[in-house]
Amino acid sequence: METTGSAATPVRSPTPTLTVRPLSPAIGAEIIGVDLRDDIDDLLAQVMLDAWHQHLVILLRDQKLSEDDQVRFAERFGPPAKIHTQQFVRSHPAVMLISNIREDGKPIGALPDGEMQFHTDQCHQKIPAKASMLYAIEVPSVGGNTLFANAYLAYETLPADIKRRIAGRKALNAYDYDTAATIRKSEVPPGAPCYAHPVVRTHPATGRKALYVNRLMTRRIEELDPAESEELLTFLFNHQEQPRFIYEHLWRPGDILMWDNRCTLHARTDFSAGERRLLRRITILGEKPV
Ligand code: SIN
Repeated sequence: METTGSAATPVRSPTPTLTVRPLSPAIGAEIIGVDLRDDIDDLLAQVMLDAWHQHLVILLRDQKLSEDDQVRFAERFGPPAKIHTQQFVRSHPAVMLISNIREDGKPIGALPDGEMQFHTDQCHQKIPAKASMLYAIEVPSVGGNTLFANAYLAYETLPADIKRRIAGRKALNAYDYDTAATIRKSEVPPGAPCYAHPVVRTHPATGRKALYVNRLMTRRIEELDPAESEELLTFLFNHQEQPRFIYEHLWRPGDILMWDNRCTLHARTDFSAGERRLLRRITILGEKPV
């Protein structure tokens, strides 16, 4: 399957009208012509997997999905992870709400408010999720967009001396942003979950190398003095967040989008606290980054 530039490409598949349309030069593709309530047979699942590996983010629009439909779709890519924050789970143990809607003053979903800096899901854990999937139910009229950056391109376009300086290094990632997802810290607060992963990881399916640090969660590069670590990380963050590597998704209700945490980063733009935002999230179990 070839999808280059911005041209939409028809794909040989069990769904005769299925098309894969790139969303930007760097990352993302829309799959057109599939209703995820229908059976997803092996051939269709393979076409979607190939498109996902090639474009890193896949989008399907105008879907009308129950929780069970969304779980069934997720399961075609691997086992969904059980959610540990029980208060955000609805009926299925793998489905979590992302929402700013409050009931009795408390958000019904995780990551409720405003802007979020670039990050990758669960990079503070030993075995982060390989994929995350969001299904949009209610979205604000302006903002709350999700940006995706291509971490393969970020790595491949680094200057040779920077590649040399990060080769074989690990960086410590921490999770402490329940309420402040826009403030980068270089220290890990006591008790915050954290884990050190390779700064450059290799994707197990494509064999490509991706830059695996991010502004929100990466605190330091191990075995460097703090000033050098901070200088290098600042360079890497500014490099990987360049517009040429990014697709910005403006949500519509009925959108379902799945990204690959092994080779992408994502961020969120600000939105009004006076407007409702409600998405259903599933993450899919991954492997230890190497
Ligand atoms: C996330 O970081 O998983 C949430 C992204 C979003 O709410 O757009």
